[in-house]
Amino acid sequence: MSNYSIYLEEFTEQHDFSDYLKLVNDKNNTYAIEGIDEKRITKKELIKFINEYDGILYGIFNEKKRHIGNLSFSKIDDRKKICNTGILLSQSYQGCGYAFQAMVLGLGNIFDNFNIDTVQLFVLESNLSAIRLYEKLGFQLQGVAHNQFFKNGQYKDSLEYRIEKRNFKYYP
Ligand SMILES: CC(C)(COP(=O)(O)OP(=O)(O)OC[C@H]1O[C@@H](n2cnc3c(N)ncnc32)[C@H](O)[C@@H]1OP(=O)(O)O)[C@@H](O)C(=O)NCCC(=O)NCCS
Repeated sequence: MSNYSIYLEEFTEQHDFSDYLKLVNDKNNTYAIEGIDEKRITKKELIKFINEYDGILYGIFNEKKRHIGNLSFSKIDDRKKICNTGILLSQSYQGCGYAFQAMVLGLGNIFDNFNIDTVQLFVLESNLSAIRLYEKLGFQLQGVAHNQFFKNGQYKDSLEYRIEKRNFKYYP
């Protein structure tokens, strides 16, 4: 863990929200995130989202304890041993390997400490930096999910990727 310049912490109401509000209201950076539309998100709405989150919502923090992004695991299905993941990193911290580190920590934890064998995600075909990240981590393309993505009244196709516990090679 000491080789990592970031750490994950479950995000709660007690955390400082200033960076989180900037993060979700940077609409250029969230174009590929479902559930965040054109409307400005308020602190009250964010607190409600955090408190009602059905899954694990990690904040990604850097060595200066700055909140630089989020990594989530949701739709946790104990019977099928599968869950979904999503990541959002502040634009100022992209391209530094932090997203990769965060996903290594998050996937390692989910495979070690939860009854999960498969992690699934959906990504827009146009989101090349996200696709590069997922493929570097060992996620494998399953196929095109027609009209899987819905935002601002429009449907788009997504790519479905999965990684299995037995193929995950970056245990922290
Ligand atoms: C998607 C997103 C998280 C990617 O973040 P990022 O900062 O580009 O990612 P990183 O720099 O950590 O990771 C990608 C790189 O990790 C690198 N990497 C870092 N450490 C590595 C290691 N130890 N081993 C192998 N590869 C590593 C790879 O080189 C890789 O790709 P590249 O050099 O070919 O570009 C970011 O662009 C983002 O938040 N976008 C907006 C929200 C979004 O679209 N989320 C995804 C929705 S599906």
